[in-house]
Amino acid sequence: GEGMSEGDAILVIDAGTTSNRAMVFAPDGTVRAVAQRPLTQHYPQPGRVEHDAEEIWQGVLACARQAVTQVGGADRIAAIGIANQRETVVAWDKASGKPLTRAIVWQDRRTAPVCEALRDAGHEGAVQAETGLVLDPYFSATKMGWMLEHVPEVRAAREAGRLALGTVESWLLWKFTGGAHRSDASNASRTSLMGLAANGWDEGLCDLFGVPRGALPEICDCAGEIGTALPEWLGAPIPISGMAGDQQAATVGQGCLTVGETKATYGTGAFVLANMGSTVPSSAHRLLATVLWQLGGERTYALEGSVFVAGSLVQWLRDSLGLIDAATETEDLARSVPDSGGVVIVPALAGLGAPHWRADARAAITGCTFATTRAHLARAALEAMAMQTRDLAEAFAADDARWTMLRIDGGMSANDWMAQDLADVLALPVERPVFIETTALGAAMLAGLGAGLFGSLGEAAAAMSGKRETFAPAMPSEVRDARVKGWARALETV
Ligand code: G3P
Repeated sequence: GEGMSEGDAILVIDAGTTSNRAMVFAPDGTVRAVAQRPLTQHYPQPGRVEHDAEEIWQGVLACARQAVTQVGGADRIAAIGIANQRETVVAWDKASGKPLTRAIVWQDRRTAPVCEALRDAGHEGAVQAETGLVLDPYFSATKMGWMLEHVPEVRAAREAGRLALGTVESWLLWKFTGGAHRSDASNASRTSLMGLAANGWDEGLCDLFGVPRGALPEICDCAGEIGTALPEWLGAPIPISGMAGDQQAATVGQGCLTVGETKATYGTGAFVLANMGSTVPSSAHRLLATVLWQLGGERTYALEGSVFVAGSLVQWLRDSLGLIDAATETEDLARSVPDSGGVVIVPALAGLGAPHWRADARAAITGCTFATTRAHLARAALEAMAMQTRDLAEAFAADDARWTMLRIDGGMSANDWMAQDLADVLALPVERPVFIETTALGAAMLAGLGAGLFGSLGEAAAAMSGKRETFAPAMPSEVRDARVKGWARALETV
C-alpha cells in the first residue's frame, strides 16, 4: 500500500537464549544478510538465569538495522517475522516502555518450590489436561507469579495499572510497534495460562498462578497482520506478519507440515516436536502438548520433548572447565577414540526436562579412571545428545507417535559425528538440511504467508526449502545396547 515497501525480502528476527540475530531471506529461501550479537547471561545465584530485556531489544534492533543496511535499505523488505526463545518472562511499564526487572529465563529453576507445592496440592492433572504442560519452573506462569510476589517495582506498576507482562516476542512487538501488546498462540501455549483448546487466557489458571489477566497480551495467529514496525526503527513502516516460538518456527522451517513429521533442534537445549494435526494431543509419558501454529484461528498441535541442555554442555566444557578451546573441536576429539572409555555424562546442569522432569537433578560425569582423557570426555558429551534423544524417542513411541525418521537442525547438528551417532543410537535415518538455520527459515515462511507472498505453508515450504542429507544407522545392536545400559545406570546417580 501507500508508503509501504516495494521489496519482496523477508526480515527475520531470531531472539535466542544466547544470541540475537537478524537475517534477510529472498522469497526463494536464499539468505541475503545475517547479523548477530551475543546476549549476556546473568547467573545471580545457583539455579537462577536472567537476561536484561533492554539488551535483548537493543541487540535485536542493532542486528535488524545491520541486516537491512546489507540488503540496501528498508524498501527491500516486505515483511518481518519474529522467532524467539520461549517461556522467558519480561515485565515492563506500559507508560515508559522500560523493563521493570530482569527477565527470568526459561532455564531458571527458582520457582521449583512453587511447582512442588502446586503438585502436592493436587493441581498437576488439571493443569496438564488443560495446557498440555506439566508443573515445572520451565514455564512462564510461576515466573510471572514470582515477579509479582517478590519485585516491588512490578507490584507498584500493577497497582498503577501500568504493568505489561509477556514473553520475548510480545516484548519485541511492543517495542517495534510502540505499544501493541500481542503474543501468538504458539508462544502463549508455553505459559501454562492458556487452554490448548480455548481462546484467550484462562481465568482459573491466572488465579492459580497469581497472574493478572489485564497485564497479559492479546493472543493472535502466527501469521497475518500482527503489527507494524514504526518507521523510526528501520527507516520505513514494515508489517510484522509472522510470529512463533523458536521451536515451533524450526518445525515449520523443517517442513514438518503433516501429522507424524518430527524434528529435533540442537541449540542451547534440544527440542523435539512432532506434528500431531488438529486434535489436541495428550501425553501419558511426560511429554508436552503444545500449539505448533495458529492460522485463521485454527490450531495445529505438536507433542514436544524438551531437553534443557545440549549445546550449552559443550559451551560449559569450553568456558567453565576449559577442556576445549572451540566447540568444533569436539568432533575430532570424539573420532580420536574408539569409545568413551566407560565415561558417561548426564548433562543435568539445569535439572532434567522431558521425560524425567527432575528440577532437583544435578549433572554427573561417571566412569572416569586414570586412563580417561579429554577426548573421552568430549565423546561422552556428544554421546549424551543421542542418549537424551533416545529417552524422548521411547516416550513418543509409548504415546503412539513413533518416529520413522528424524529431521535435525540447530547449530550443534553441524557436527557430523553427532548426527551419525544419533542415527546409530536411534536406529533410524536422520536427515539434516544443508541450511541448518531452520528457526529463521520457519519464521520467514510464516511472515511470507502472513504478508500474502505465499498462499499456504506448503507453498512457502516448496518455495523456500533446500536440500537435505541423510545419515543411515550403522551401529551393531550390541554396541547400542551397551550404551543404553550405561546411560540408564548413570541416570540413576543424578
Ligand atoms: O523453550 C526454550 C527454547 O525456546 C530455547 O531455544 O534455541 O534459544 O535454545 P534456544
